Amino acid sequence: MQKEEKDTAGVESLMTKVYDPPENFKAQAWVNDDSPYKKADEDFEGFWAEAAEQNVTWFKKWDKVLDDSNPPFFKWFTGGKLNISYNCIDRHLATPRKNKAAIIWESETGATRTITYQEMYYEVCRFANVLKNLGLKKGDIATIYLPMVPELAIAMLACCRIGVIHSVVFAGFSSGALQDRIEDSNSKLLITCDGNFRRGKPLAMKINADEAMKNCPTIENCIVVKYNGMDIQMQDGRDHWWGEIIADAKPECEPEHMDAEDILFILYTSGTTGKPKGVVHTTGGYLTGVALTHKWVFDAKEEDTYWCSADIGWVTGHSYILYGPLANGATSVMYDGSPDYPERNRWWSMVEKYRVNIFYTAPTAIRAFMKWGPQWPEKHDMSSLRLLGTVGEPINPEAWLWYYKHIGGERCPIVDTWWQTETGMIMVTPLPGYTPLKPGSATKAFPGVHVDIFKDEETERPQAKTKGRLAITKPWPAMLRTLYNDDQRYIDTYWSRWGGKAYIAGDGAFFDDDGYLWVPGRIDDVMNVAGHRLSTMELESALVAHEAVAEAAVVGKTDEFKGQIPVAFVILKDGFDPSDELEGDLKKFVRTKIGPIATPAAVRFTRDLPKTRSGKIMRRLLRDLEEGKPPGDVTTLRDPTIVDEISEIVKAHPTGSK
Ligand code: WTA
Repeated sequence: MQKEEKDTAGVESLMTKVYDPPENFKAQAWVNDDSPYKKADEDFEGFWAEAAEQNVTWFKKWDKVLDDSNPPFFKWFTGGKLNISYNCIDRHLATPRKNKAAIIWESETGATRTITYQEMYYEVCRFANVLKNLGLKKGDIATIYLPMVPELAIAMLACCRIGVIHSVVFAGFSSGALQDRIEDSNSKLLITCDGNFRRGKPLAMKINADEAMKNCPTIENCIVVKYNGMDIQMQDGRDHWWGEIIADAKPECEPEHMDAEDILFILYTSGTTGKPKGVVHTTGGYLTGVALTHKWVFDAKEEDTYWCSADIGWVTGHSYILYGPLANGATSVMYDGSPDYPERNRWWSMVEKYRVNIFYTAPTAIRAFMKWGPQWPEKHDMSSLRLLGTVGEPINPEAWLWYYKHIGGERCPIVDTWWQTETGMIMVTPLPGYTPLKPGSATKAFPGVHVDIFKDEETERPQAKTKGRLAITKPWPAMLRTLYNDDQRYIDTYWSRWGGKAYIAGDGAFFDDDGYLWVPGRIDDVMNVAGHRLSTMELESALVAHEAVAEAAVVGKTDEFKGQIPVAFVILKDGFDPSDELEGDLKKFVRTKIGPIATPAAVRFTRDLPKTRSGKIMRRLLRDLEEGKPPGDVTTLRDPTIVDEISEIVKAHPTGSK
């Protein structure tokens, strides 16, 4: 431990140190000079047209690269026809990739399955035929609520083979969250499993699905994968076992010729209201964006084994476990389980076992490993690694340096990638054979991506080198097209400031003197808990649904390991008294309404909340109190005395993740 302390001392100076690409890495990299940046600057549309031509196989070429006639409803590659499952599978079958592993899967139990591209073709075609036999057609929506099993990848690819839109719901969400997402999308089919494993214990999924389906009359069929073997109810006529329904399905299915702008998927994400937003992604631009970024950012080569440790239930998994890697004919590792089960070396044992070359994870995981100590990775030969990546939240320089040293052996460049569910693809990132790295900075916009900083008070493009809102000033191919069934919310949320001149990401950011971008965090009411996006409003609406709660305010408290943790402040209704038991009840209530990731670290009972005279809750002030910071000017409050009261309550019971 003493050694570690010494290593991370003087981080300030290391923060300003620049890490040049190693010569041997540079020599072999896809990109090792500034030519792509120059090309994209000289000819923006030409750059993206070339990317679409070189990375995607089209049944029919597009008529127009970018249609910007109706902003902010931009369209890319209009008139083009393609199929994503064809791009991710069929086109590899006439090459030496035919019997290459597309997915290497491992479960927490140790079970493994390797699916070659040829096998993937049969599995996907069979499941696409199952969907057709159940009457699903192009444009219908299927909700997929599965853990990280191979069937999840198969189901997604089968949907896009026949033009069914998928809406994947993270397996860690509970029945309430699942129900909201099914209801909003009116989906006809639910694909789930009996249950999952979590640290050796069974975890129910079909039971949650049953709970949700009770209130979702649009669901006509439910396909159930047998995974953990737990006892479940199957409803006659509605529920079908995956293994049985696929048994007689034909292993051939023609891919639908999809329009470039046909919807590929909806993915719900947290916004600043209680209702999750259905982010809509389409086909041609999305595939172009994820295929090119996967190739250049991860410097993906034919012989690499690539592992992104995210869950497919989040956008990272959609873009960089499934679609980007498979479009490039890569071998993608898929792991269902905890990083520390049965021991804290699980991930590193898998890096050694599969000779993983490229590894992409979240800073929150790195901080956990940092806490557990370097003895766990040191047990393993990880010399196969040649590139590391991070995503989901800012990485603190200490964690960056630990990752660089103890995982990458001071040999591997680290790509810190900034992007969002809405952007579909990586937007700000180093290109590892070209960009000098600064620990903690996502560095520069990807070629063909235009990022700037906008200030609230300014209406024109401001000075770049000041802190402000991260904005994207030109459309990009993998951008969201709208929010499902809510064009107005799409405009209001992302484009209303500055008269539609820029997409507003919701993050605060600044450029340093070298033009490097730093993104310290969100500046809206969205929290980032262990790399997961959660809205304070979503938690607040869950809390006020409890019989004892009159009013609630939730804030994200800065946390050493998880980035942020939710803390709830609650006013009780008359007749209810604060108690440890009620705190426990409320935590459990949120857990069952949304999911374990949303569980508040503390519930604070208070007489009132700090409100302005117009009644607006000052969440920022609550966060300051929770973090032990001086609350600043409180004279604008309706009742300034509440600040001291809350401060006492917070001091009596400090919080923090373990
Ligand atoms: C944050 C995940 C700093 C940011 C792909 C963004 C980051 C939100 C980074 C999107 C990064 C993601 N540095 N912050 N490299 N990557 N974020 O939609 O606040 O789950 O707005 O997409 O995560 O989260 P989402």
